[in-house]
Amino acid sequence: MRPVLERERLRQRADYTYKFNAKTGRHGWLRLTPAYSLKIVEELVAGHEQSQRIFDPFCGTGTTALSAAYHGHEGVTTDINPFLVWFAQTKTARYTTKEIAAAQDACVVALDLVQRKAIEPVAAPPLHNIERWWSPKSLEFLCLLRAAIATVTEERTAARNLLLIAFCRSLIALSNAAFNHQSMSFKDDAQLALDFDLDMAGMFAEDLRFVLQGAAENPVGKAAVALGDSRHPADVVKEACDLVITSPPYANRMSYIRELRPYMYWLGFLLDGRNAGELDWTVIGGTWGIATSRLIEWQRADEHFKSERLSGVLDQIAHADNKSGVVLANYVAKYFDDIWAHFQGLLPILAPQAEVHYIVGNSTFYGTVVATELLYAEMLSALGFHHVECKAIRKRNSKKELVEFDVIGKRG
Ligand SMILES: C[S@@+](CC[C@H](N)C(=O)[O-])C[C@H]1O[C@@H](n2cnc3c(N)ncnc32)[C@H](O)[C@@H]1O
Repeated sequence: MRPVLERERLRQRADYTYKFNAKTGRHGWLRLTPAYSLKIVEELVAGHEQSQRIFDPFCGTGTTALSAAYHGHEGVTTDINPFLVWFAQTKTARYTTKEIAAAQDACVVALDLVQRKAIEPVAAPPLHNIERWWSPKSLEFLCLLRAAIATVTEERTAARNLLLIAFCRSLIALSNAAFNHQSMSFKDDAQLALDFDLDMAGMFAEDLRFVLQGAAENPVGKAAVALGDSRHPADVVKEACDLVITSPPYANRMSYIRELRPYMYWLGFLLDGRNAGELDWTVIGGTWGIATSRLIEWQRADEHFKSERLSGVLDQIAHADNKSGVVLANYVAKYFDDIWAHFQGLLPILAPQAEVHYIVGNSTFYGTVVATELLYAEMLSALGFHHVECKAIRKRNSKKELVEFDVIGKRG
């Protein structure tokens, strides 16, 4: 096994989404890649000596592809969310010293424009209840800064992208959102009272310094990040892959669109609530806005995955003593039908003897445990994978039944 010597370097770029909240002095982060899954992915990647083509069909913030590239492999990854594709492309790209210097120079000019208010601010994004997210002062700063970045950098350049990553860090650091739970919430009034006179320009300059430090550490291997639906990976991935390492969405009703909405609105990837709900409907495991109401009408297609275990679970959830039982049973059924479509679509792009690792957790609905790992294992076996096993990795929280697994299989 290769030593995980790149861990520190990897962390710098991997942590692009981490935020330090200057108002409270606490750390928090965007919940896509908890630290432990970064560690697992790194260990799996580092455990393969020979250079391999490693595929991650659920890219998220690009951890697997970045880790693969740092360890000299070729990372190939897709995501259905265009913001995350942009984000992971920026995170995995190689940067020249000239590009890094250009980003630094652009930051100085942008902050000068902001401080002198010598630029027309952009309109605040149409995020619902935006005043809950940012104080008027923070909002004014962000609108000026967003306009300044657009003025001092060219579209689709390294400088623009790197400044926007730093902008993402700053906008979350300035926000009133708290990330102490699985999902985002807003701080209460007592916490908000901690708001003091922040040096916002200094904060952004510091965020950019952090991002540029990571950008200077170029990975040796390649990473390709593309927009794509994991139910049809062959549409995008044209060469056979030797290894799949991925952390798919869980069947836990977490909506990545909801979690990511502040970034997506500010960067123009979302235009309104309807737009957000539509995108969530295309995402596996998404349940926000219109996506939730569509689930009520949704019906399983004839070619769905036939499993006694799954039928039993759906039956129990549907008949739970709760008015949402039927819609949640539909949610779980759709989740597994989508994952089944993914596994079927994956087969043609796997090299013979390719190994797959799915880092996934189980979940519960009204006391019914959904053993996601066992259902993944059933699907892999049904498709002819061998050496299929579910390795427990860790307990997720105080609920003893919630566990994370590495579901492993080898293509026959
Ligand atoms: C658990 S996250 C991945 C976290 C990732 N390991 C990281 O480093 O951030 C799951 C991802 O799957 C993506 N996703 C959901 N449905 C998808 C689909 N049909 N095709 C491709 N990606 C999808 C979501 O947008 C989300 O980014």
